[in-house]
Amino acid sequence: MAAPSETNVSNSPSLLSQLLQGNSYTEEFKELLNSLPKETGWLAPDLYNYKGFWLEPFFLQGALTSQQHFQAQDSDVILSTFPKSGTVWLKALAFALITRKQFLASQESEKSHPLHTNNPHELIPYLEFSYAVKERPDFALAKGSRLLATHLPLSLFPKSVWESKCKVIYLCRNPKDTVVSFWHFMNKLRRELRGLEALPFPEAFDSYCRGVSNTGPFWDHVLEHWKESLENPRKVLFFKYEEMKKEPEDHLRRMAAFLGCPFSQEEEESGVVSGILKLCSFESLSNLEVNKNAINGGLGVENGVLFRKGKVGDWRNYLTDKMAKTLDQIVQEKFTGTGLML
Ligand code: A3P
Repeated sequence: MAAPSETNVSNSPSLLSQLLQGNSYTEEFKELLNSLPKETGWLAPDLYNYKGFWLEPFFLQGALTSQQHFQAQDSDVILSTFPKSGTVWLKALAFALITRKQFLASQESEKSHPLHTNNPHELIPYLEFSYAVKERPDFALAKGSRLLATHLPLSLFPKSVWESKCKVIYLCRNPKDTVVSFWHFMNKLRRELRGLEALPFPEAFDSYCRGVSNTGPFWDHVLEHWKESLENPRKVLFFKYEEMKKEPEDHLRRMAAFLGCPFSQEEEESGVVSGILKLCSFESLSNLEVNKNAINGGLGVENGVLFRKGKVGDWRNYLTDKMAKTLDQIVQEKFTGTGLML
C-alpha cells in the first residue's frame, strides 16, 4: 500500500479532517499509541492495533473516552455495524420506526419527515466520533429512546451498555461487497481530505484480508456480535444486509418487536410498514437533494458518497475469481463451528 503523505490539502473544516490532524492528543494517549502495533492506514496515516482491532487514532481516543464517560440508559438503542455494511439504511429504518407516531412515513406527510431534509447520519450520531470531539457530548433525547450508532467492536463497548437494558442491533454484510464499498469510500475521502491517490484495489484487498482495515478484522467484529446475539438474544439483534434486502418487511417487523414497539393491526392495515420501507429505500434516500450534493459536516464530502449502488453482488465487478476464493476461504475458516454463514 502506498504510504500516504503527511500533507492535508483540504480546507474543509469537517469533523473528520480536524480529527485526522490529531492535534488534541494528551501525552498519555501518545504514549499508548507508541506502545501499539501499527500499520499503514487507508485514510489516516496509521492504524493501531488495540486489543486485537485496527483503529484510527482519533477513533481509539473516542472509544476510550466513551468507555470512561458514556452512561447507557435502559431505553437506548445502539445501531452497530462494521463500516460499509448498510449503516445509513439501518439508521434511517430505526429512526423512522421509533419516531413513527411523531412523523408519519406515509405519502401525505412525506415532505415534513426529517429523513427528507436530513441525512440519517445527522439524525443518529456515532458514539465514538462524538466522544472523539467532546468529552461530554450531548445525546439529546428526541422523544422516547435515544438512537446511537457505533462501528466499535463489541468488546470495546462502554461497560454501561452491558449494565443497562439498552438494546443493540447489528447489521453485517458479505465482506466481498463490503471491501469494494469501503475501497470506493476511502478513495473518495483520501482524495478530498488528504489529496492522496486512490489505493490500488489489490493492495486494499490484501490489507482487508489480513484484517487491517478500520475496526477490522471484519471476521472478529462480526463474530463478537454473532456470539452475543446467540447468548443474549434479547440484548443483541443480528441482521444480514442481504437478507434484509430480500425480506425487508420481515426484518422491519422483527426490529419493531425487538425494540418493544411492534406494529399494531391498525398500522399493518394502513400500510405503515411499507411506508417506512419506501421512505428508507436506496432509491428514495439517494434521490433526495440532501443526500446528493449537501456536504456532510462530519465527513466534509457530499452525502452522495454514502449512496453508491446499494446492490448485493457488485463485488463481481472488482474481485478476480482468485480474490473471491481467498476471501470465501477466510470467512469459511473463521466461521467454522459458529453456525454463521455470510
Ligand atoms: P455500496 O457501496 O455497495 O453501494 P454504510 O452506510 O455502512 O456506510 O454502507 C454503505 C453501503 O450501503 C453502500 O453500499 C450504500 O450504497 C449502501 N446503502 C446506502 N443506503 C442504502 C439503502 N437505503 N438501502 C440499501 N443499501 C444502502
